[in-house]
Amino acid sequence: MSNYSIAGFAATALSSLTSGQVHFLRGLPKAELHAHLNGSIPLPVLQDLSREYLHATSAQGDARAEAVRAGIDRLSQGVMLTEIHDFFDLFPAIYTLTSTPQTLAKAARAVLCHFLLPSDGGPPEAAYLELRSTPRETPAMSRLQYLEAVLDEVEKFPEDQAALIVSMDRRMNSDVAAECVECAIKLRDAGRRVVGVDLCGDVKAGNVADFEIHFKKAKAAGLGVTTHIAEIPETPAEEIQQLLSYGPDRLGHATFLDETSKELVRNSSSCIEICLSSNLLCKTVDNLDVHHIRYYLRHKHPIAICTDDILPFRNSLLGEYALLMAAPPLGLGLSEREIETVARMGMASRFPVKS
Ligand code: IMP
Ligand code: ZN
Repeated sequence: MSNYSIAGFAATALSSLTSGQVHFLRGLPKAELHAHLNGSIPLPVLQDLSREYLHATSAQGDARAEAVRAGIDRLSQGVMLTEIHDFFDLFPAIYTLTSTPQTLAKAARAVLCHFLLPSDGGPPEAAYLELRSTPRETPAMSRLQYLEAVLDEVEKFPEDQAALIVSMDRRMNSDVAAECVECAIKLRDAGRRVVGVDLCGDVKAGNVADFEIHFKKAKAAGLGVTTHIAEIPETPAEEIQQLLSYGPDRLGHATFLDETSKELVRNSSSCIEICLSSNLLCKTVDNLDVHHIRYYLRHKHPIAICTDDILPFRNSLLGEYALLMAAPPLGLGLSEREIETVARMGMASRFPVKS
């Protein structure tokens, strides 16, 4: 989108390319399979929501309004993260601004349009977007209504362009996680465009073993299964094994898999959702030289190139592909043929729509 400017690693890689290279990347049909709704709201839209919120709220000096102001300031100035845990503090302010069906719908619409409408007169950022979001219960909506509001926007786009993944959060108790999966199945059974479930959230929170029953239920119902996994070096091996035992179709990040788990993954067809800028900015990976994408490329294992959260990371799908193409040290220096193969892997890893 023309009013969206990127920064950081992806921007530097993109600006190092020739116009012919950029043209090639833009023309590639790309699937965005790992984008969190509330982490992908274009900044100008969030600033609008913030103005509306602050205008409508009578208690201008209250703590929540202050938190919104501080959160928007931080995002507007460009977020600097010292480590991954800093990242999760960004969301409470954003959540205040997307807590009604109307504001949530506005945010969802903006994210979908950002990825799927033609950008600068050229092809869209993504040929296909599998948006994911964690249903929240607020005074203005139930979890089911949250999902309906997002689906109403997703379904304004054709079936081969947009679908929804329902995320569970690691902090959820079992009743809430069960409700999320029940809603996902109920909506899918009613013909709505839910294609999968995910587990995300603070990497140190909760116990992933508590989610076994919910993943089993989702899988038995024919939904696709993806999960964030091994995002930090301290991730216990048992946690990794537990998550892999759920038979996920895709894995988010998978940065710190031990050798046994890597073997297991390579012997499966699980696609790895790779988020280069996210890993570099959250400082879970030092540089592209040591990024785990190299392992999966070497083994020709399915991967999908994804943005994760374009709002705080100020990246774009095009920018992530630029990181594949740019000459080292700015990028991986892959050839056009190699990049085409990667883009095709992403498209091939979409969750099917079942009706
Ligand atoms: P939402 O699900 O639409 O509310 O999107 C924001 C949420 O996604 C955050 O509150 C986090 O729980 C989750 N999230 C975003 N990025 C990451 C990540 O890299 N790791 C784990 N969770 C994440
Ligand atoms: Zn993520």
